[in-house]
Amino acid sequence: MERVLVTGGAGFIGSNFVKLLLGRKRKVHVTVLDKLTYAGNLKNLEEVINRRDFTFIKGDICNKKILDEILPRTDIIYNFAAETHVDRSILEAGSFVRTDIVGTYTLLQKTLEHKIDRFVQVSTDEVYGSIARGKFRETDPIEPNSPYSASKSGADLLVRAFHVTYGLPVLITRSSNNYGPFQHPEKFIPLFITNALEGNPMPLYGDGRNVRDWIHVDDNCRAIELVGRRGKVGEVYNIGAGEEKENIYIARKIIDLVGASEDLLTLVTDRPGHDRRYALDSKKINRLGWKKRVGFDKGLETTVRWYRRNESWWRPIKKGAFKKYYSAMYGKRISQASKRKGKR
Ligand code: NAD
Ligand code: TYD
Repeated sequence: MERVLVTGGAGFIGSNFVKLLLGRKRKVHVTVLDKLTYAGNLKNLEEVINRRDFTFIKGDICNKKILDEILPRTDIIYNFAAETHVDRSILEAGSFVRTDIVGTYTLLQKTLEHKIDRFVQVSTDEVYGSIARGKFRETDPIEPNSPYSASKSGADLLVRAFHVTYGLPVLITRSSNNYGPFQHPEKFIPLFITNALEGNPMPLYGDGRNVRDWIHVDDNCRAIELVGRRGKVGEVYNIGAGEEKENIYIARKIIDLVGASEDLLTLVTDRPGHDRRYALDSKKINRLGWKKRVGFDKGLETTVRWYRRNESWWRPIKKGAFKKYYSAMYGKRISQASKRKGKR
């Protein structure tokens, strides 16, 4: 039986990934190592937490001692653990450098010492920077623009170096923006869905015309699992669904699906260094045998339905510390936008 370590498995993509692994016929034992930061939530793992083929350990990927305890019982590592929100990285970059770079380095070093079969680094298309036309390929240079994407790039380069220098059996996935159930309500799609449900302003950055290539989390999880099982060691795999959408298109769709008022749409001061467009060439993962199953419009509809039915999951998150973050990030921008609206 394969023994799998999923770091960051109490977060959005990691928790969906754990459920995918445990839902398969193939017998595995899954251990989650997660620090339970503001983004980690044990409720995301409720349906698997008591299973005998599942173990949860609260801890930091920077903690060598914990890794020395877990890794002798591990065959394959999927490293999802990271600080992940671009906006937070603009407010405070230190925790991104610590977890995304130093944490990944610590895991790599311990993976080497404990002779693990495979190390899958879960990375992002944001390492490539912004692209005006065409699509990013795996061979394109890394040109990150935010402290988040720079930290993830640092991790990717260390992963590559551990392969080239020490022969560590690594693989890297770079997926585009994910959406789906259990995504923290500070990220674009869940923030807009929950604000619409609450009747609160939906703060669109800049002109609302930035483009992201959206992928449903289930599709990404299937691709990551495939890379872990069948990918070629030392290689990078882009994972995108080819669903390029402007933010304003998504915001309008959410308004329609929720039945909210157009007046909630609020253009606010742009994010500094805001990448204009991401788009991925995913032919390499297609050749490995993966293709998307969930189209964007259908996926958004089921996601809106999930947030509607799971208020008991997101409402508590939006209380407490979230409020402080929200007012630091949006308070001034939204009141400026309301003043501008009032003058018209
Ligand atoms: P998330 O923020 O929802 O979850 C991150 C998880 O990591 C949380 O459970 C958190 O508690 C945990 N964590 C943070 N620091 C840790 C540490 N030092 N030690 C152990 N655990 C720690 O993030 P997500 O959206 O699920 O993203 C997962 C991974 O996928 C990240 O590596 C991210 O860079 C990558 N990714 C995300 C997207 C996306 O659209 N969400 C797209 C491409 C790649
Ligand atoms: P986000 O979910 O933060 O992902 P990323 O920046 O990593 O791609 O944002 C997705 C897009 O939505 C991005 O272009 C920024 C935009 N956005 C807004 O317009 N308003 C918001 O409140 C947020 C959180 C994001």
